[in-house]
Amino acid sequence: MNNLTRKLGHIEHALSQSTKINSFDQIRVKHCALPDLDLDRISLNTTLFDHSVAAPFFVSSMTGGPTESEAINRRLAEACREMGIAMGVGSQRVGIEDGHTGGLNGSIRDAIGSSPLFANFGAVNLLGLSDVNDLGRILDPIEADALILHLNPMQEVFQASGDTNWTGVIERIAATCNWSPVPVIAKEVGFGLDAGSAKILIDAGVDVLDVAGRGGTRFADIEIAMNADIQQVLSDQQLFDGWGYTTVECLQMMQSFFPKQCCWASGGVRHGLDVAKALCLGASAVGIAGRFLKPATESTESVIATMQQFMDELRIACFGMGIESVQHLDQQLLWDGSHAS
Ligand SMILES: Cc1cc2nc3c(=O)[nH]c(=O)nc-3n(C[C@H](O)[C@H](O)[C@H](O)COP(=O)(O)O)c2cc1C
Repeated sequence: MNNLTRKLGHIEHALSQSTKINSFDQIRVKHCALPDLDLDRISLNTTLFDHSVAAPFFVSSMTGGPTESEAINRRLAEACREMGIAMGVGSQRVGIEDGHTGGLNGSIRDAIGSSPLFANFGAVNLLGLSDVNDLGRILDPIEADALILHLNPMQEVFQASGDTNWTGVIERIAATCNWSPVPVIAKEVGFGLDAGSAKILIDAGVDVLDVAGRGGTRFADIEIAMNADIQQVLSDQQLFDGWGYTTVECLQMMQSFFPKQCCWASGGVRHGLDVAKALCLGASAVGIAGRFLKPATESTESVIATMQQFMDELRIACFGMGIESVQHLDQQLLWDGSHAS
């Protein structure tokens, strides 16, 4: 299977997945019966790398490469422009290796306007670059505001011809951070970031950690469904279903070990209330992939409507907690069942 066919398979399988257990459901926030607020004046504005954005959530990296991805990316980018929201593009590996940019070129920058746009490359694929300067070929055409390196060892394991030799990846990440003209974000792809890896990434010079935990899109299922060889290897196709850390577990780990580190949350974020909970758990921004995929296969208007719904829900959550801005969402607003205020 070539890279382009695989990318299309990811979209098809992700669209048909349904969420099972979501850790955000275990989190409760404090209710305020007497908000001294006007719902319509609650502020969702925040900044990402000095760019102001209209909401603290962004489109998490999805597709890139096949021609079909071009329309999806364009709709996502146009919606981001309209709503003032940031976006991460999908992996640009195919663009570097095969020249199929799938719309991840100047046209996506035109579509998104001045909203922040993040480039994306697999950390393990850094090993295949002869020169770190080659990354300029994915940053420059989209005028990237940051570079996302994705960490996906368990996805590669289940993928046909996946990259399973990760020796030396840490050094390449450090070299990339040293070289990069823009901030570097490291993210998982739905299995969650552990504390040990987070420490190594911080030491390597990564600016932001996006935990991308379990609870939403499940790449083990997607890759296993697309790979007959691995189906033969596994005694049970669901064996690794529960692998990794939930997004909530990751955020709690980050708060205990690295409370000062800039941390983003993604993985299983379904609506504006999940966004509010992730911010209370210490994230400074929240990424959403799966929930934006279906509207992005339909139209720019569908994506805009979904983003508006997230914003309305987030604003209602702030109102219910009695706070006037998402900037005030923090751990104090988590309810642990005790009656201390
Ligand atoms: C169709 C699809 C393709 C994806 N491709 C990428 C990718 O190229 N690079 C990346 O960093 N993450 C990729 N992801 C992972 C998402 O960015 C995100 O980490 C993961 O889906 C968990 O978020 P979710 O539960 O909101 O979907 C992809 C997700 C989907 C659904």
